[in-house]
Amino acid sequence: MKITVIGTGYVGLVTGTCLAEVGNEVLCLDLDASKIAILNGGGIPIHEPGLLEMVKRNVAAGRLKFTTDIEQSVAFGQVQFIAVGTPPDEDGSADLKYVLAAARNIGKHMNEYKVVVDKSTVPVGTADKVAAVLQEELSARGVDTTFAVVSNPEFLKEGAAVEDFMRPDRIVIGTEDPKAVTIMRELYAQFNRNHDRIVVMDLRSAELTKYAANAMLATRISFMNELALLADKMGADIEQVRLGIGSDPRIGFHFLYPGCGYGGSCFPKDVQALIKTAAENDIKLKVLTSVEDANEAQKQVLLTKIKARFGSELQGKNFAVWGLAFKPNTDDMRAASSRTLIEGLWELGATVTAYDPVAMDESRRIYGDDARLTYAENHMSTLDGADALVIVTEWKEFRVPQFEEIKARLKSPVIFDGRNLYVPAQVRSHGLEYFAIGRR
Ligand SMILES: NC(=O)c1ccc[n+]([C@@H]2O[C@H](COP(=O)([O-])OP(=O)(O)OC[C@H]3O[C@@H](n4cnc5c(N)ncnc54)[C@H](O)[C@@H]3O)[C@@H](O)[C@H]2O)c1
Repeated sequence: MKITVIGTGYVGLVTGTCLAEVGNEVLCLDLDASKIAILNGGGIPIHEPGLLEMVKRNVAAGRLKFTTDIEQSVAFGQVQFIAVGTPPDEDGSADLKYVLAAARNIGKHMNEYKVVVDKSTVPVGTADKVAAVLQEELSARGVDTTFAVVSNPEFLKEGAAVEDFMRPDRIVIGTEDPKAVTIMRELYAQFNRNHDRIVVMDLRSAELTKYAANAMLATRISFMNELALLADKMGADIEQVRLGIGSDPRIGFHFLYPGCGYGGSCFPKDVQALIKTAAENDIKLKVLTSVEDANEAQKQVLLTKIKARFGSELQGKNFAVWGLAFKPNTDDMRAASSRTLIEGLWELGATVTAYDPVAMDESRRIYGDDARLTYAENHMSTLDGADALVIVTEWKEFRVPQFEEIKARLKSPVIFDGRNLYVPAQVRSHGLEYFAIGRR
């Protein structure tokens, strides 16, 4: 099949590359010429395990191409995936300007039947808006052709995106057009061989399904974060509680890890957008409003612990920070807890020395050359001269450190662990003070 993917970010580039990997011809469009230049130069603009090799393989095979040419991209694919960003608007609702601009570009140039697929996470009712924009542009040109709009939300996780796309748990296809269902089934046939993972539903249910999934996961995290705060106060150990409840199959072990708040490009904005959609429909989502409030508070938890230990006047103090990305295996720092921590430490007068295996370039892009933030070559060298270590992201290489060396290199032997990486008694046995989240 010939497929166009609009937007070459975390979702679009993975989608396009994986579709090429199973034999399709894929043209990826982005209006950001610098991204297309990187891709055409043999690189990729993001960090995603396994992606670079797959891109190279498919480019070499002639199945994967990149362009900034809208007219060419519209002409290319019978299926046009829209995978552009839907960042939060000022009021928290999803900003649809990129999605509708992409749809308008398709409408301006299409001359034959196309399946336009919303892969971006978009509020219920967006497919109707996309269809209206397409029709408006076709009518303006007097072109008489039909099209289908499909909602096909993406559930991949950054850091495991290629694996998730190649082996999806489910493939949600929302449309009322039978011809589009046939085309989408054919498109996904190679990802659906082991057993049928395709769930066909109406458009609005598909749009809501994506928000429901992220909202449920965010809820589990905020629930555990609040219980961890209680455990801290009551002398219970949240890790024991996790094991105690996760063994119930109705609950399960996934997504029950407390920490210093969820971040990233999806949970915060999708929870906010769903709350906003509901409010526009006169429904207050009380549970999700609390999930969001609890997360905002949780992003302060490390700062609260640091202030309790070191006081609120941190002039002249330096903190070593391990991890900048919002989670391991990605360079994405959108809404990352590290940003709340770093900016909070700055406000209190402290400086930061940080290390992240892949997100330091992204951090430099965000913070420029602010002298209050310096970068170390590896995680252990952040410690030299630092007053304490703060762990924000659970990268594998942080999991089994030499505690004696940490103690020797820090000015004061204190660790604040926002991801509960270690066994408290073991850390303390090395003479380190250890502050984790809800751990005894
Ligand atoms: N990142 C994730 O883990 C993830 C997972 C599931 C769903 N989603 C959803 O997928 C969508 C994309 O997310 P992302 O993280 O890939 O975003 P991103 O910001 O990494 O990429 C979006 C890309 O779209 C490009 N773009 C914007 N307007 C364009 C246009 N009119 N034509 C062509 N290109 C255009 C931008 O230049 C950018 O490269 C969002 O709605 C997001 O919520 C993201």
